[in-house]
Amino acid sequence: MSQPLLPIDVPSAGPGSNTTTFADNMRLPVHRWFRYSAGFSAQWAGSVIEESGAKHVLDPFGGSGTTVIASEEIGVAGIGLDVHPFVTRIAKAKLAWRADPDILVKRANDIRLEAEKERPVVAPPAPLIAKCFPDRKTLLNLLRIRDAVERLRVGDEYDELLWLAFVSIIRACSPAGTAQWQYVLPNKTKSRVAEPLTAFEARVEVFAQDMWAMRSRRSAPEGKIVEADARTLDGVPDGWADLILTSPPYANNFDYADATRLEQSFLGEITGWGDLKQLRKKLMKSATQHMGGWDAAEALESPLIESIREELLAVFGELSSIKRSKAGNKAYDLMVAGYFLDSAQIWHALRRASSPGVKVCYVVGDSAPYGVHVPVERWLGELALAAGFKEWRFEKVRDRNTKWKNRKHNHPLHEGRLWIEG
Ligand SMILES: C[S@@+](CC[C@H](N)C(=O)[O-])C[C@H]1O[C@@H](n2cnc3c(N)ncnc32)[C@H](O)[C@@H]1O
Repeated sequence: MSQPLLPIDVPSAGPGSNTTTFADNMRLPVHRWFRYSAGFSAQWAGSVIEESGAKHVLDPFGGSGTTVIASEEIGVAGIGLDVHPFVTRIAKAKLAWRADPDILVKRANDIRLEAEKERPVVAPPAPLIAKCFPDRKTLLNLLRIRDAVERLRVGDEYDELLWLAFVSIIRACSPAGTAQWQYVLPNKTKSRVAEPLTAFEARVEVFAQDMWAMRSRRSAPEGKIVEADARTLDGVPDGWADLILTSPPYANNFDYADATRLEQSFLGEITGWGDLKQLRKKLMKSATQHMGGWDAAEALESPLIESIREELLAVFGELSSIKRSKAGNKAYDLMVAGYFLDSAQIWHALRRASSPGVKVCYVVGDSAPYGVHVPVERWLGELALAAGFKEWRFEKVRDRNTKWKNRKHNHPLHEGRLWIEG
């Protein structure tokens, strides 16, 4: 699936409509190295890049690197940004596909030998790990690989490839299920669980095969992944992009800070919910969990949202009043205000970083928190024009059902591509 909110059972809206899903990437070299459910289809991204004739492709919400790797495959320059450090690290590791597969296999073999040594291990303190790895032997073997990967680090790109090979087997070795939106479900079990050393070897084998398969593309310009905020686009030169191809977070309450909680807990980077706070502060506001301590008053007065202010205020007011009547008291009012203020900042940053005549393709869906419809693509289009882009149109790709529908609102929701010319 592309965005985390999409149910897989929704019928597609027409030919080619599934081109925005990540599932297809699981058959493609390099793209398949980590299943990032929020990602979109690499083949589709490649076709957009090719048809556009672009030379400089920018993805301000680069996630697992799909757009940048697709650019490399076509032979054009790509820059992808993401503010999530763990996801950025995954994307950067994927860009090491140009390394020598034989060396990778040899280094993986050293790790296997190291992991077989009976050394003491320290389990991560996160309670989630004990829950997700009830089998002691599996946990022990995974911890030994984790430690071997760290011990045999020499400071080169193979370190990162081996780190990714390890990270990408953690879920497969746990009986815990994964929700459609990549949240881990410790209480839901899956039937097939991988054995760590076998899974690690198999992963490295897949990486090596893909590195061989991609050899003919080695001469393409190397893509760049930057850990940075789409609201400022630090690191992207003025006027650089002639194509912006991206899928931002949707205003749908998905918390990207939580998407890699299992993997980060395993590595000891986070222990509990509190540790996600710092990352949540960095993310574009798109979930109520991102809103702690945030005051909407300033946002609603900002000149940046002038072009949608009246409508936004109406939606904000309705959500505030519904919130007061609900036991859950969810701050969807703040989420919506924060989402569009952030979006306005992003359009200004994108305008700075793009050339005149740039093409923009924004894969996005609308939203209806507490049953109140938010016309996301129209508001995004209007904010883009206010930031200096020339025109927008929306191409619907599919209808979608969401949890909002269960709350009996009657707005059919959809997902599609917001095309902007500038
Ligand atoms: C829909 S995903 C993009 C997935 C990507 N297309 C792929 O194929 O992997 C949206 C991404 O936006 C990132 N994000 C959220 N807030 C951000 C911000 N302020 N700046 C840059 N990236 C951000 C999230 O971490 C997430 O990876």
